[in-house]
Amino acid sequence: MLSVQDIVVAIDRSPILRKVSLEVGAGQIVYLVGRNGAGKSTTFRTIMGQRKPSSGGITLGGQSLLGLRPYEIARLGVGFAPEESEVFGDLTVAENIQMPTWTRTTATSAADREALAYKVFPKLERYRERGGQQLSGGERKMVSIARALAIDPKLLLLDEPTEGLSPAIVPSITEGIASIRKLGHSILIAESNVHHVPEFADRLYVIERGEVIYDGSLENLRRDPAVARVVDGAA
Ligand SMILES: Nc1ncnc2c1ncn2[C@@H]1O[C@H](COP(=O)(O)OP(=O)(O)OP(=O)(O)O)[C@@H](O)[C@H]1O
Ligand SMILES: [Mg+2]
Repeated sequence: MLSVQDIVVAIDRSPILRKVSLEVGAGQIVYLVGRNGAGKSTTFRTIMGQRKPSSGGITLGGQSLLGLRPYEIARLGVGFAPEESEVFGDLTVAENIQMPTWTRTTATSAADREALAYKVFPKLERYRERGGQQLSGGERKMVSIARALAIDPKLLLLDEPTEGLSPAIVPSITEGIASIRKLGHSILIAESNVHHVPEFADRLYVIERGEVIYDGSLENLRRDPAVARVVDGAA
């Protein structure tokens, strides 16, 4: 479904990504784990067309995404919840979630997309009329993910959905991610702490200084202490 092949990205002539490759299969949940500054967000922005790789390729279902604009990539079925959860304070939770459906047609109605969001994050339903500025950090993350899901994407990119959340809140996000997978969406998730990667992850990549240094299962990563230490959340 998504294939990133050897992408090289430089910002102001400094190399940020050095030949990053990764694959997300249909219906899979794949994690890109790396500490601060490793290159996770740059990888996501490049997939979304916000940065141009100087070499390498990116394909979705066999179609190249290179040279497409971010809105065109979204139209091809890529939903993106950026690291800075962009929740609009003046809009209600319901409006924030429905917003992407105002400018594009989805197979199901805006109300159906909103109802689906509450199946994924039941807590949000109680707050549907609440303004975005009244939400906690965890609730904002939920709204941001629900909004990315509203376009009924084939692939969902979630950049650090648990960042800055207290450990008690993390499971409600992880449960939401599990139910999104059950709906059949493929998901690529950036994480800085390997302890936030759930057992149900299909595959995991570790990125360090712009290079992929591990590709495999969570279980096998635990047998590789040198790599596991890089993303143990302590750094
Ligand atoms: N706009 C920019 N201008 C200059 N350098 C940048 C820019 N964006 C990112 N970088 C640099 O690129 C590197 C990778 O940054 P990136 O944001 O991709 O990391 P990350 O893995 O998402 O980190 P974090 O966990 O802090 O979100 C860092 O060294 C960062 O300083
Ligand atoms: Mg980042």
